[in-house]
Amino acid sequence: MQEKIEGIKAKYLEQILEASELKRLDELFLELFGKSGEITLFPKEFPNLAKEELRVVAPLFSQTKTELESLIEQRRKEIREEAYGKLDSETMDLSKQIEVKERKGHLHPITKFEKDIADLFAKLGFQQFDSTQIDSDFNNFEVLNIPAEHPARDLWDTLYVDQNYSGGKLLLRTHTSNSQIHVMKEFAPPLREMIIGRCFRYENLDARHEHTFDQFEIVYIDKGLSMANLQYLSEYFLKHMFGSDIAVRLKPGYYPFTEPSAGIQGQCIFCKGEGCKICGNLGWLELAGAGMMHPQVLRNGGIDPEEYSGIAWGVGPGRMAMLKYGVTDLRDFLSGDLKFLEEIDK
Ligand code: DAH
Repeated sequence: MQEKIEGIKAKYLEQILEASELKRLDELFLELFGKSGEITLFPKEFPNLAKEELRVVAPLFSQTKTELESLIEQRRKEIREEAYGKLDSETMDLSKQIEVKERKGHLHPITKFEKDIADLFAKLGFQQFDSTQIDSDFNNFEVLNIPAEHPARDLWDTLYVDQNYSGGKLLLRTHTSNSQIHVMKEFAPPLREMIIGRCFRYENLDARHEHTFDQFEIVYIDKGLSMANLQYLSEYFLKHMFGSDIAVRLKPGYYPFTEPSAGIQGQCIFCKGEGCKICGNLGWLELAGAGMMHPQVLRNGGIDPEEYSGIAWGVGPGRMAMLKYGVTDLRDFLSGDLKFLEEIDK
């Protein structure tokens, strides 16, 4: 029996000392002290022993049991300390800067473009006026000399709101020119207002037409204004947008709410007036509709056309941005395609 005890001791002593993981020590512990462990089962043989033998074997067993138990416990401690030691030497430097590529957002190119326009005209004393996007048929058309059934209505494919209103049918404004009446009602002349905002049309969509787009309108009313002032403002605007060497001209046009009416044209920035596909071989690009505010429009706004005259224009910043950035499809701007937007932002 004594030999058996020594045998168990020898067998486990080595294994305990060699164990390098807590898991291994747990296994050894179970083999010795588990339900059917060698140490647990060992005393079952005691009743068969002679008294003298038991007197020797029992203390030896008890001592071996304690020795193995404390040896496992000690080895456990050592393994834990080794692990903590490793943790100590593996300290993290929290002050270290990790290089993470920063992705900054940016304004939409058309928003940027419009901010630029607003800054430019603020320098000339124009203030920004915020007007309503849902308006009456009256404000959008009638006060601008476009009564129902007027053929000019064909120019504006309109989205009506399914609701009536005291001022006539409601619609999504087809142009920022609806603001003209609001401006005149709000301020007395002399006045310099600019309106930059959303417009909507029931359009057949293509590379140059969107159902939702922005316009930039100017309403400038003062004594003694003439087409010369319009020419000056047009040059001021286009030279800033496309460079000081761009030639600018006013071409006779027609709008029911201006008299005379004009198209603001800039010499084609692509062919420098030679004629190309983009300008339809004309050498000029039509960039805005404009004119002297019609006397009846001024009267509708409570302004005496004998005393004051007005300049108004409407520009599509989207179309201008297309030219400036070389974009071939207007719809890309509202597509939400980040690749496209980031490319332009470069
Ligand atoms: N409202 C016109 C359109 O959307 C553009 C326009 C033309 C505005 C002449 C004006 C103007 O103020 O005088 O086509």
